[in-house]
Amino acid sequence: MSSPARPGCAVFDNIGCLVTNDPSIGEGRLGCRTGSALVAVDGRVAWVGDAGRVPEGAGGSRVDVGGRAVVPGFVDSHTHLVFAGERSREFAARSAGGHYQAGGILATVSATRAASDGELGATVSRLVAEALSSGTTTLECKSGYGLTISDEERSLRAAKEHTEETTFLGAHIVPPEFAGRPDDYVALVCSTMLDACAPHARWVDVFCEMGAFDADQAAEVLRAGARRGLGGRVHANQLGFGPGARVAVETRAASADHCTYLSGTDVDLLGASETVVTLLPGAEFSTRSPYADGRRLLDAGATVALASDCNPGTSYTTNMPWCIALAAREVGMTVDEAVWAATLGGARALRRDDVGHLSVGARADLVVIDAPSHLYLAYRPGVQLVAGVWRGGEPAWPPTGGAF
Ligand code: NIG
Ligand code: FE
Repeated sequence: MSSPARPGCAVFDNIGCLVTNDPSIGEGRLGCRTGSALVAVDGRVAWVGDAGRVPEGAGGSRVDVGGRAVVPGFVDSHTHLVFAGERSREFAARSAGGHYQAGGILATVSATRAASDGELGATVSRLVAEALSSGTTTLECKSGYGLTISDEERSLRAAKEHTEETTFLGAHIVPPEFAGRPDDYVALVCSTMLDACAPHARWVDVFCEMGAFDADQAAEVLRAGARRGLGGRVHANQLGFGPGARVAVETRAASADHCTYLSGTDVDLLGASETVVTLLPGAEFSTRSPYADGRRLLDAGATVALASDCNPGTSYTTNMPWCIALAAREVGMTVDEAVWAATLGGARALRRDDVGHLSVGARADLVVIDAPSHLYLAYRPGVQLVAGVWRGGEPAWPPTGGAF
């Protein structure tokens, strides 16, 4: 049970298994330590060492973790939380043999356009809180269900209430008023829409897929974003083989996401690139698609991240532990690789070095797991094992401060 918090300093003692993601202070790639303690000062990790050996004068609030595991807060580098409506019937239709179609996005677009700012904001708040309760402490959030200048801009404003990692996805799909004129829509996205949206975004994303945007259109959107200072991200190779992964590498995008259908050439390109591959097994689960081959990507040298892709059409979950379990079962990753991908991998996909690990100097974002090790995240799928979440050294969830 934690003692009353004093802002600025917190001591976590009696940690059974601490995942630091820093191989210099623990075993293996996860930098795992048993019997550890961690001190946070002013929101940052200030000391990591053996349990019971916390430096004199470390003061502050004390949290006896009781032999439980601690992992870095999850970094969910791909979500679409600004939307209205829901699409459970599409999900049910797929369970009866139907197939996912990118055009389903338009149902969410019309509901989103009709929603008030208050309704959109309430949905983002609810989902961010839900993500926090399963251990997500850093989250990227895209626009992409407005597809007009004002609806994209207000979507990004709603996202920015909760995160600095906002992504302009005006090029999600061609909206109905531009049907048959995709180049005209791309021209709008690359000019006045980007002008209005870039001030509220850190990233630009494009859905490069048959039925959405082709390679030339995608590259144009990414370059227009880059001219306004936005880093690139690509929805690539989700529904079939195609040019998305190549475009991501060629434009030096931070991340190529989905990557479900990759040729050998794509895998080699990604493996030799700085572009992180963000796998989204929740989308494959929901759309009944084959799972991405994480093993092949890791073996080719790619940096792999795991994210939720939370959205109403293809992956209505915020639960990163569940994504870890899926990755360990279906994507060819070990549990350790999946935990790394959901923490430091996500940070790499967002080009952040302050989150996703618990080295001295990192942001003190950590999750206490009600289990003896991080392996339980996959070993006990679907079970709420998150006992407490701290962000910047402060208790963040549960709201009552928690007891364990
Ligand atoms: O990441 N692929 C494009 N965008 C979303 C799906 C959007 C939707 O169906 O509403 C995705 O899966
Ligand atoms: Fe997505």
